[in-house]
Amino acid sequence: MSEIRIAVAGVGNCASSLIQGIEYYKSNNKEVIGLMHPEVDGYKLSDIKVVAAFDVDKRKVGQDLSRAIFAKPNNTKVFYPDIPHYGVTVKMGEVLDGYAKHMEEYPQDQAFQIKKERSCDVVQELKRSGAHILVNYLPVGSEDGVKFYAQAALDAGVAFVNCMPVFIASDREWAKKFEEKGLPIVGDDIKAQMGATIVHRTLTKLFVDRGVKLDRTYQLNTGGNTDFLNMLSRERLSSKKISKTEAVQSQLDNPLPPENIHIGPSDYVPWQHDNKVCFIRMEGREFGDVPLNLELRLSVEDSPNSAGCAIDAIRCCKLALDRGIGGPLTSISSYTMKHPPIQYSDDEARQKVEEFISGKIER
Ligand SMILES: NC(=O)c1ccc[n+]([C@@H]2O[C@H](COP(=O)([O-])OP(=O)(O)OC[C@H]3O[C@@H](n4cnc5c(N)ncnc54)[C@H](O)[C@@H]3O)[C@@H](O)[C@H]2O)c1
Repeated sequence: MSEIRIAVAGVGNCASSLIQGIEYYKSNNKEVIGLMHPEVDGYKLSDIKVVAAFDVDKRKVGQDLSRAIFAKPNNTKVFYPDIPHYGVTVKMGEVLDGYAKHMEEYPQDQAFQIKKERSCDVVQELKRSGAHILVNYLPVGSEDGVKFYAQAALDAGVAFVNCMPVFIASDREWAKKFEEKGLPIVGDDIKAQMGATIVHRTLTKLFVDRGVKLDRTYQLNTGGNTDFLNMLSRERLSSKKISKTEAVQSQLDNPLPPENIHIGPSDYVPWQHDNKVCFIRMEGREFGDVPLNLELRLSVEDSPNSAGCAIDAIRCCKLALDRGIGGPLTSISSYTMKHPPIQYSDDEARQKVEEFISGKIER
């Protein structure tokens, strides 16, 4: 198969896990564990090559990518330390609204440290690197930042995978721009392989399928990575809350009134590092109008959990490029993202992804 050349915007924990995973599976000939698709129409993980990277942190910019992914404040589990020298230097990106001011109040090892340097020419760098796809991993709340990188992708003729909750693939105007350029786009806001959202959605659907009336629910999440630190700023959170809440509401025939559903990042606990703990409570009524409730605690390493889905989003995006399909890819977006252009149930989305991969449906 041909290479899948990707660029990443934001060399944080998610990019670290993605890159470790690409090298881990390349070198691992034993039983393949942890993948939804060992191959996507012939594309293996080892076909993915990172050819460009952008960040704004002084401990990452100017470093070879193989070192930058382990630089502070990244703190995800290192499951594959033997990353070869990549020969890809992390370039200075446009800071815009990527930095949350409250990070100044935290120890350097826990927060971003912005490099005082002019941004590189991102469009030029994308073109020079020969990237096929730009994968966006900017912090929550970077509305301007994400739009800047999405426009750069359009200008450079590169597809876009949007792993965070600024709405691009699910926004009509932006989706149209990608369609007009014949460039595929997958988004928005990655839904982890086995994370809070997919578990909460699946249980919500189970309530509906079994005739149980869901009356009230919450999902509280804590973690100790920079994603959670960043999200302490409530004004950066509006699109994240919409994305996470709609992902669950979409599984109900009649959405819950807003006062009966609370979903969101809840606190930053530094010693948790990249371990995310999620608490779900669901209250409902079963046969005879009799009440029941469910309590669940899920503990996951946050970033490998996102990489497990990103690798499918990236490979499906390349399939669309190969097939000359531009605009939002609705099947893989619904399967791997919380806020896709069209919400399907996870079973339906999985079915549609298989049909997309086999060429039965276009997108
Ligand atoms: N971990 C998951 O399962 C998951 C799930 C859904 C969504 N996400 C989202 O994915 C995004 C990335 O998550 P993460 O854990 O890697 O975050 P992170 O905080 O570890 O990494 C963000 C990186 O972006 C860099 N950055 C900030 N502003 C920038 C700019 N303007 N240009 C280039 N780089 C910039 C930072 O220096 C940092 O390296 C977040 O928005 C997160 O909410 C993650």
